[in-house]
Amino acid sequence: MPRPRVYVTRRIPRPGIDLLAKTCDVEVNPDDRPLSREELLDNIAGRDGVLCLLTDRMDARAFDACPGLKGLANYAVGYDNIDVAEATKRGVPISNTPDVLTDATAEMAWALLFAAARRVVESDRVMRAGAWKGWGPLQFVGGDVGGAVLGIAGAGRIGTAMALKSRGFGMKVLYFDRVRSERLEKELGARQVEFDDLLAESDYISIHCPLNEQTRHLFGREQFAKMKTSAYLINTARGPIINEAELVEALRSGAIAGAGLDVYEFEPETAGGLAALDNVVLAAHTGSATRSSRTNMALKAASNLIAMLNGDQAPDCVNPDVYRGGRV
Ligand code: GLV
Ligand code: GLV
Repeated sequence: MPRPRVYVTRRIPRPGIDLLAKTCDVEVNPDDRPLSREELLDNIAGRDGVLCLLTDRMDARAFDACPGLKGLANYAVGYDNIDVAEATKRGVPISNTPDVLTDATAEMAWALLFAAARRVVESDRVMRAGAWKGWGPLQFVGGDVGGAVLGIAGAGRIGTAMALKSRGFGMKVLYFDRVRSERLEKELGARQVEFDDLLAESDYISIHCPLNEQTRHLFGREQFAKMKTSAYLINTARGPIINEAELVEALRSGAIAGAGLDVYEFEPETAGGLAALDNVVLAAHTGSATRSSRTNMALKAASNLIAMLNGDQAPDCVNPDVYRGGRV
């Protein structure tokens, strides 16, 4: 049997490529930058398998470009970059990389929470500018974390991990999710609440839901108005869950105290005025960026792709319906 032809849309940690190369003919985008749309369509043409990134839009036109595709492995847990309904219609299985980035992303949410609450980046800027005049009782006063109310929007794997890590800080935990989390209730005494109660009662809200039509702009002007003026919003999920232009207004007007963001509505751009504000910490979509997490994502995406190319169900298939139709 000829070796399957696989395309990897950007360099990923070596162990993933090495694993694929054992059984497949692998070509990797040689440049460490996202492919343009045209380059993507050209390069995936005629491939049996594709390993793509969250920055690659995989829609009907992309699937048209590689009609023989037997599997698409996304190097991310979120897969809003892929038109899954379209893939399913065509019998193409899709996989993602859950679990291996859960702790890394939850830790990043904590890093942003502390950085925003304790004004770490803002005071760093003052220090670097040589503008610090020495200690002062009224300087850089921020939010209390210990004993505060932590609101989790989306209690999946990452939201749960974020919440569980609050134990050291003795926080009261609320969560908003369609599904009840017995684990959070049992281990933390967490309470499932309506979205409006999450907004009204939380001192910190951390977003951990997937991006879809129900969650797009879940947070906008109206929601910021319902939050405490002393509250902070943390987003390590997907940018478009927040109306970013309206967040700029809320941060500017003091409707909320601050924000810590790792993701943006129109990456790599940020909304006008956002970068000029002192009460927001801006990270560069680095939630999963730890050595072990990024390497394990590469291994996971590669093993999923290999399974799909063998005609087996991928361990992390997000559209298992494709296997029911007997198309693969
Ligand atoms: C990163 O954003 C991911 O979804 O894995
Ligand atoms: C994703 O890993 C999630 O369930 O939060």
